[in-house]
Amino acid sequence: MAAIAYVNGRYLPLHQASVNIEDRGYQFGDGIYEVLFAHRGRLIDAKLHLARLERSLAEVEIAAPMRASSLGAVISELLARNRAQTALIYIQITRGVARRDHAFPHPHVPPSLVITVRRKPLPPADLGAWGVGAITLPDERWARCDIKSTNLLPNVLAKEAARRAGAFEAILLDEQGLVREAASSTVWAVTAGGVLVTRPLDQHILPGCTRAALLELLGELNVRFEERALAQDELRQAREIFITSATSFVKPVLKLDGLPVGQARPGPVAEALYASYRARFGE
Ligand code: PDD
Repeated sequence: MAAIAYVNGRYLPLHQASVNIEDRGYQFGDGIYEVLFAHRGRLIDAKLHLARLERSLAEVEIAAPMRASSLGAVISELLARNRAQTALIYIQITRGVARRDHAFPHPHVPPSLVITVRRKPLPPADLGAWGVGAITLPDERWARCDIKSTNLLPNVLAKEAARRAGAFEAILLDEQGLVREAASSTVWAVTAGGVLVTRPLDQHILPGCTRAALLELLGELNVRFEERALAQDELRQAREIFITSATSFVKPVLKLDGLPVGQARPGPVAEALYASYRARFGE
């Protein structure tokens, strides 16, 4: 069965789905996106993702093409048409199609909306199967990384550098050598002293929906937690490092810049958070 995409009001086979070459997303990266995970037919943290989508759109003054509730209905329809139960959902909204000119189009043009679905395996029961390597790199992105913009060139380059180094993620550091986040995920570490740390939200990192969901679960676990910036040295000496995102859930980083992290196996904090997160969606 051919995969089906949603493009500006139509459900089309993926190979027929296309956008205009003057779409501002294509020309300028002038767009916003979201990534959600459907688990056995249920969207995980949908409210958080749709609220963040609305916020990102408002920050760059792109009109929402439809209400969040209608978007939810389109996603359900798309999952059904793709016969997908466990899948990644990609939503992209751009400023629309107009003759190339950097400033916003005048008169106003309607935004473009594309949604695709890709079937995924269920997240593993055993976190050991899920461990990855990461490298550290300077953060070369813009100053508004709190907006989930499709303008991802520095993230693309960082991820490719990670891949070439045999790793999965690139952990991005600010000018002081403090951890911001990774190229496509939130970074957490358990320090040598046993404190779980993640960076406070500001304009330099994306407010992760998985991060928000996990923070709520922390209360149930017996974990010392601090929301603060982490120095590169603390990261190197960490007992545990893990990344989180809608597609990585809780993913242990077992190697950092080629060296083992802690015992080079998933640590108790990552295990506990992953278990509570999975329990939340009924696994
Ligand atoms: N990435 N930070 C960045 C830079 C991200 O791109 C992502 C998500 C996150 C985690 O956010 P969340 O927990 O809401 O998924 C943090 C998605 C999955 C992506 O770009 O594919």
